[in-house]
Amino acid sequence: MRLILVLAALPTLAWAAPAADPGSLAREAASLIPPFQQHLLQTVKTAIAAGDPVQAVQACQLLAPTIAVEHSQQPWKVGRTALRLRNPDNQPDAWERQILEDFLRRQSAGEELAQMSASAVVDGEFRYMQAIATGEPCLACHGQGIEAEVAAQIEQSYPNDQATGFAPGELRGAFTLRRSLADAAP
Ligand code: HEC
Repeated sequence: MRLILVLAALPTLAWAAPAADPGSLAREAASLIPPFQQHLLQTVKTAIAAGDPVQAVQACQLLAPTIAVEHSQQPWKVGRTALRLRNPDNQPDAWERQILEDFLRRQSAGEELAQMSASAVVDGEFRYMQAIATGEPCLACHGQGIEAEVAAQIEQSYPNDQATGFAPGELRGAFTLRRSLADAAP
């Protein structure tokens, strides 16, 4: 009896499969991350190369949210989140928090942060996250012993900042992407 029910459901599943297939949605999400990441990294590097780390913090504050909007191509929304936050606008929701905590567990179990990702359908949306490790270029603004002037600028812009004290290789946060499944083509 159960078999018959499963078989009866098959044509519907097969018909809905191409666009809503979680594997291809995850690949599509993953493909949006490198250009977004490059754009952010380039912006931070250019600002630091200009020689004034205080201005670099301001540039990041000003540009990071705009860059996220620029890389949010319909129907996808891209952004960044973290457990220890700098910008309160990047606050994780319940699902994101759970995945970030899971990334930490997976890392302590020996998995590499590079390429660590997770996806799920939550409330009619396809959600995708990819871990962000702390690298050398991040330490000036997220590391230990941050230059006093830079620390002062961070303090001024983000009075509740929790995003310092990271060591290279530590989980800094994650890229987070979402899209509605309501408009997914059949
Ligand atoms: C010049 C200072 C500076 C450098 C260098 C820098 N950041 Fe940031 N970072 C910021 C600022 C300012 C924000 C808040 C801007 C925003 O996202 O709205 C931020 C936000 C973030 C966020 C979003 C989560 C949150 O806490 O708000 C992540 C993730 C992040 N940075 C990772 C990195 C990584 C990884 C690197 C190195 C590749 C890096 N940052 C280098 C200044 C910097």
